[in-house]
Amino acid sequence: MATSTSSNFTPDSSLDLLFNPELISQEVRNALPADLHIRPLARTDYQRSHLAVLSVLTVVTDPGLAAYQSQFDAMRVAPNTNYTLVIIDKSSDQIVGVGAVFIERKFLRGLGKVGHIEDIAVDKRQQGKKLGLRIIQALTAISEREGCYKTILNCSDDNVPFYQKCGYEKKENEMAKYAPIPRQHTPKL
Ligand SMILES: CC(C)(COP(=O)(O)OP(=O)(O)OC[C@H]1O[C@@H](n2cnc3c(N)ncnc32)[C@H](O)[C@@H]1OP(=O)(O)O)[C@@H](O)C(=O)NCCC(=O)NCCS
Repeated sequence: MATSTSSNFTPDSSLDLLFNPELISQEVRNALPADLHIRPLARTDYQRSHLAVLSVLTVVTDPGLAAYQSQFDAMRVAPNTNYTLVIIDKSSDQIVGVGAVFIERKFLRGLGKVGHIEDIAVDKRQQGKKLGLRIIQALTAISEREGCYKTILNCSDDNVPFYQKCGYEKKENEMAKYAPIPRQHTPKL
């Protein structure tokens, strides 16, 4: 049944989505406030503040609409691999939260799969309202539904308590090696 929403709100049926919205947990959908909607990233989300929301997480350079959409297309052609989801404020039709899970296929663990959670960000005005938790729950459910035997992520020390609240535990260390040629659009982050 249709719910009353602002005329600004673009329904999923009018959008070109990154993946099947049915993969998003109904439990998470039910737990969201009525003025918010969770769905896969859409090809037109460049216009819905996707990059602005990511800027609460790190330095963001704007690639422009055409390059953004090429990246979207490149992600979508790899089946069952890239899942970026967004939370939309229905009154403005703008993104207020984002997150992604990338599915890695392995030769180990009986040809197992691992989900890598990346790029979690909630708009500053919406933080502290359990949206981060809902994003992690939805991504973890996708990862598990895809058959991943574990879901992992990297984070700063400051965010460890947040991920613990989401049911994650500290395990091992992260190592990184940056490419020797610095590129202007990829600061060392
Ligand atoms: C980290 C972030 C995603 C959390 O999202 P959020 O919507 O504000 O968090 P939630 O409201 O879902 O928090 C869920 C629980 O974690 C707790 N929590 C959230 N961030 C926390 C932190 N940094 N330290 C301690 N606890 C934290 C909340 O208090 C809440 O606890 P409760 O269930 O006892 O009330 C958000 O603050 C954010 O976008 N930060 C900037 C970008 C960033 O650091 N992203 C993570 C990259 S690894």
